[in-house]
Amino acid sequence: MTDALSHPTPEQDDPGERIEHRWAVVAAAILVLFVAIATFAGVYHGAMPQSQVETVNPRTLHIDGEFIESNLGSAVEPDGSVTVRAIGQQYSFTPSCILVPSDTSITLRMTSADVVHGFLISGTNINLMLVPGYISSLRTRFAAPGEHQMACHEFCGVGHEGMWARVKVVDKAAFAGLAAQHRRLSCVE
Ligand code: CUA
Repeated sequence: MTDALSHPTPEQDDPGERIEHRWAVVAAAILVLFVAIATFAGVYHGAMPQSQVETVNPRTLHIDGEFIESNLGSAVEPDGSVTVRAIGQQYSFTPSCILVPSDTSITLRMTSADVVHGFLISGTNINLMLVPGYISSLRTRFAAPGEHQMACHEFCGVGHEGMWARVKVVDKAAFAGLAAQHRRLSCVE
């Protein structure tokens, strides 16, 4: 490394120093670019922490409250939107087949009954963590009927890789017909 005092213009004298300086600028520029991309993604796509934290007691999920078994599945709200309530536990999701209508506002509300799980829905950007004690909530919309796989993506124990569910998106009218007959819907056979 050259001493700046003995070389007043090191950029011109020492090619090594010049290259080093250039790379320092490039490295700083890359850093600034990444921060800008992360900021843009966070603000533009709304990929931010939830504005409010909802808690739930994982020990009493099955006894009372929103996540008792009879309340799980898809429910039609007065405004026509659909709320899906489900839980993850070692090593399955309940319900194991989630039924939703296409082209409808869907709110997913999920939690874990034991350890940390996660899930993603294939073909979508839906990706949530399920943390015991907290309700994970997400609003989404499925454009067209079809089937998606829903995998746990958080290592949760020996049975982790077998923790799968399905998401079945059916036509809006067909869903409305089913919803007229059942309070909660799923596609578990
Ligand atoms: Cu649940 Cu991995």
